[in-house]
Amino acid sequence: MDRPLRVIQWTTGNIGRRSLHAILGRPDMELVGVFAHGAAKVGVDAAELCGWPEPTGVLATDDINALLALGADACCYNPLWPSIDELCALLESGVNVCSSAAWITGGKQSPEDLERIRKACERGGTSIFGSGAHPGMTNMVGMALSGSCERVDEIRITESVDCSTYESAETQTAMGFSQPPDTPGLAESVRRESEVFAESAAMMADAMGVTLDRMTFDVEFTAATGDSDLGFMTIPAGTVGGVMGYHRGWVGDRNVVSVGFTWTMGEHTVPPKPLQHGHVIQVFGVPNMRTVLHCLPPKDWTEGFMDLGMIYTAMPVTNAVPYVVAAPPGIVTLADLPPITGRVQL
Ligand SMILES: NC(=O)c1ccc[n+]([C@@H]2O[C@H](COP(=O)([O-])OP(=O)(O)OC[C@H]3O[C@@H](n4cnc5c(N)ncnc54)[C@H](OP(=O)(O)O)[C@@H]3O)[C@@H](O)[C@H]2O)c1
Repeated sequence: MDRPLRVIQWTTGNIGRRSLHAILGRPDMELVGVFAHGAAKVGVDAAELCGWPEPTGVLATDDINALLALGADACCYNPLWPSIDELCALLESGVNVCSSAAWITGGKQSPEDLERIRKACERGGTSIFGSGAHPGMTNMVGMALSGSCERVDEIRITESVDCSTYESAETQTAMGFSQPPDTPGLAESVRRESEVFAESAAMMADAMGVTLDRMTFDVEFTAATGDSDLGFMTIPAGTVGGVMGYHRGWVGDRNVVSVGFTWTMGEHTVPPKPLQHGHVIQVFGVPNMRTVLHCLPPKDWTEGFMDLGMIYTAMPVTNAVPYVVAAPPGIVTLADLPPITGRVQL
């Protein structure tokens, strides 16, 4: 394209505000709109919402029709909970969507909703793509590492982190934290909340030439041994302070892909396995390959450690914008696109 891509930023929470900041810094992107879910953000300049030094003149709005009328090329979609109605409205109005919100293949959607998305892509000539850190970057690295193997037996990806400073209480509660471990339906709530990992497992299996027969989910909860006050939520003693779970994909009795997490919150939890403070990516086969992705602060970094994690989550989505705009209409995944890179800034 001989002009900057016109981009909408959808919400400015932990991840969205990092995406917004990055869009403003990209010469090949022009911020044209910002969607605000919270009333307090409506009318606020984008600069203020993401700590950009000069006003942008783009004010956040909750008027979806006004955003659709902007003729944007793409939307970086980072709401807490995704909405099929919003996604269809964007896609059919000609706006390509890059999402961090529970989307990799769309496989966890109902067949009806998936069909609506496909139709919206067709009508708008647009694509939808989902990524993030995990799922997202971890799967891309796992797939790339499998390229070193003559034979792949299993890919296993584990996010092994203390997420006490990830301030998203609703997400954390749905993942079991602060709930009594014997709460009826807790394992199913965690499975549902993390089901996008199953999508990423299926995507990797597909890329490696196998179709999964079935997915299973297993989870183990660890009770906190003392009270922790994290500011945005508390983890009382006896409630869940550690969660270890895997979505596993099977071909017959062979577990060929596993995507999961060992998460802890608060000071009083001993996880079932020692934390690796990163993303552990293992390819079992010939040869075995293993790497751990650590997200580390540059020398001049003055913000918190979790802020880097939010950038790490936002950028695989925001950096994908040019690739997704160029992709043929429909659902596109990391296995379909060329490697998505960042940009050198001189
Ligand atoms: N793939 C990955 O690696 C990865 C990692 C972490 C998170 N995620 C996903 O990325 C998305 C954003 O995460 P986050 O940590 O940035 O979330 P967040 O800060 O908790 O929320 C994001 C924004 O969603 C809006 N919001 C609040 N309540 C909402 C509701 N009930 N329904 C719809 N929107 C609501 C708010 O928008 P305003 O700011 O406009 O008020 C909020 O700032 C989530 O879907 C999360 O699951 C992906």
